[in-house]
Amino acid sequence: MGFRIKTFEEYQQAYQKSVTQPELFWAEIAENFTWKKKWDKVLESDFRKANTKWFSGAQLNITENCIDRYLENQGHKPAIIWEPNNPEEQHREITYKELHHKVSQVGNMLKNNGVKKGDRICIYMPMVPELAISVLACARVGAIHSVVFGGFSAQSIADRIQDAQCELVITADGGFRGTKEVPLKNVIDDALVQCPSVRRVIVLTRSQTPVSMLKGRDVWWEDELKKVESMGNSECPAEPMDAEDELFILYTSGSTGKPKGVVHTCGGYMVYTGYTFANVFQYEPSEVFFCTADIGWITGHSYLVYGALLQGATTLMFEGVPTWPDAGRFWEIVDKHQVNILYTAPTAIRSLMAYGNEPLKGKDLSSLTKLGSVGEPINEEAWNWFSEKIGKGRCPIVDTWWQTETGGIMISPLAGITPTKPSYATLPLPGIQPCLVDENGKEIEGNGVSGNLCIKFPWPGIIRTTYGDHERCRTTYFSTYDNKYFTGDGCLRDEQGYYRITGRVDDVINVSGHRIGTAEVENAINMHADVIESAVVGYPHDIKGQGIYAYVILGTSLHDHELTRKDILQTVTRIIGAIAKPDKIQFVSGLPKTRSGKIMRRILRKVAEGEMDSLGDTSTLLDPSVVDEIKAGAL
Ligand code: PRX
Repeated sequence: MGFRIKTFEEYQQAYQKSVTQPELFWAEIAENFTWKKKWDKVLESDFRKANTKWFSGAQLNITENCIDRYLENQGHKPAIIWEPNNPEEQHREITYKELHHKVSQVGNMLKNNGVKKGDRICIYMPMVPELAISVLACARVGAIHSVVFGGFSAQSIADRIQDAQCELVITADGGFRGTKEVPLKNVIDDALVQCPSVRRVIVLTRSQTPVSMLKGRDVWWEDELKKVESMGNSECPAEPMDAEDELFILYTSGSTGKPKGVVHTCGGYMVYTGYTFANVFQYEPSEVFFCTADIGWITGHSYLVYGALLQGATTLMFEGVPTWPDAGRFWEIVDKHQVNILYTAPTAIRSLMAYGNEPLKGKDLSSLTKLGSVGEPINEEAWNWFSEKIGKGRCPIVDTWWQTETGGIMISPLAGITPTKPSYATLPLPGIQPCLVDENGKEIEGNGVSGNLCIKFPWPGIIRTTYGDHERCRTTYFSTYDNKYFTGDGCLRDEQGYYRITGRVDDVINVSGHRIGTAEVENAINMHADVIESAVVGYPHDIKGQGIYAYVILGTSLHDHELTRKDILQTVTRIIGAIAKPDKIQFVSGLPKTRSGKIMRRILRKVAEGEMDSLGDTSTLLDPSVVDEIKAGAL
């Protein structure tokens, strides 16, 4: 059986084999990669302890698989095409050969700065090629990267750096997003006040923003690169890594207050992202793949960088935003670089849809062959618009369901192979055994049913641990339902056996495809001096998918309410980042609580959704009258 599935029958055969002979199946897939040493054992797993190991005993370096093995046959093929924020700035193309050189240089730069295998490195950078190069350079020398999205606040960065005890930070003076300039180094300086573990900060010049450079700690990227060049030797041998050595940490929100450091390891992650990239997108050797996600999120890690390069693809990286200088920016990029595969998020599709046909005028989209969606449920209207206006009815759409914790795509059509259905992620990929369970953890068999989505067998991309706290990994993902990985998502399986993800069933809000824990937002709001208590829920939002609705009880301060509202937004921006700012804040005098003091979020959710008449039973509330006040003041 081949690596690349070409027909629906082959998909069915591969799926069958992956269930009946999972170890053999994945061993054959893994043969398509370069290993320094082969594995002793394909799989060892115990879900009850949250332990899974793939390809034990094997050694590899993922960058050899992403770069070195393509040097001979396609050294001059572009590996990365970079399109800057400002269309007037020159774009850049980096061939596989050049990428090899640059990753080696930066690898040596890290070593010159004392980096050793296993060190944790925080990367807080704009979407420039040096971000991808830094990620790969860490992997090259065996350092564990922890990329933090450029929109997070100093406090969020500090929390993440402390949790992982990072030794080194790679950042830039600043970055561009539309008309905005993001002062990255300034934010890092604020964060580092709380981070004694960081002894070195490497700063790339991007925006020419004035920054402070602390003697003994901060160095310029360009100077460090010169030092490497003056040493003459541009080789940077790929560090041999055990299959289960950690490759990276990526923090993600959950239903409890503190973000978790999701850990992925080298061997399984490589096999899984490479395999899923090739098959879901049906990548052909000359195609240009444009993933619009930021590298700060898992989609950027797994498909913009690793998955694409693992298959020798040309990956397009975009620094800006979809709506600047105008809402035709994506289409202009597709036209300019003759993009073949466009992988984006429903929120972007919905926001661009709102601009109508005008931004599409004069843009040649005929190069497109396949389209992809990720991050949140895609509504039928957006799916149809994407299919008709962008794909011109000729491009299959892959609605890919997966999570930071799953490493790669789990449920998705294979482009052009699996018959699609709007708003359905369709069928599990080979190796993935989804199941739906009821409240009591009982598996719901058959079709035409819905329940909580679990996965009952390990796959190579599965989360290995939450950094520094394995018990948290076990309780979060493996203890809700016995012997199953719980996704936190609700899901429907239709008569045909197709899966449709209906959204989170825990206290996580999906805002524009980004996960935000309600508890995290509440903690941030509660930090404001005038706030006594708050409760946060999600509500349907036309563009973002879900918006953030906060109910807030204020103290007795005489401060103007309008100002306090703005101050709360400012506080949340400071504590988490602008992405977590509530869309609506309703001041209330009390929250609906049960006699045991638990907030009844169900009621708050209904009010936020505007469904005042179906609040259900409120008789168990301590003070049912607060509900009337909340209903009356609903925004
Ligand atoms: O609720 C699901 C939603 O996004 C969550 C995972 O978020 P994150 O770890 O940030 O990763 C996003 C990118 C992989 C899931 O639990 N989600 C992701 N993809 C889809 C989706 N919901 C519906 N359809 C999808 N295709």
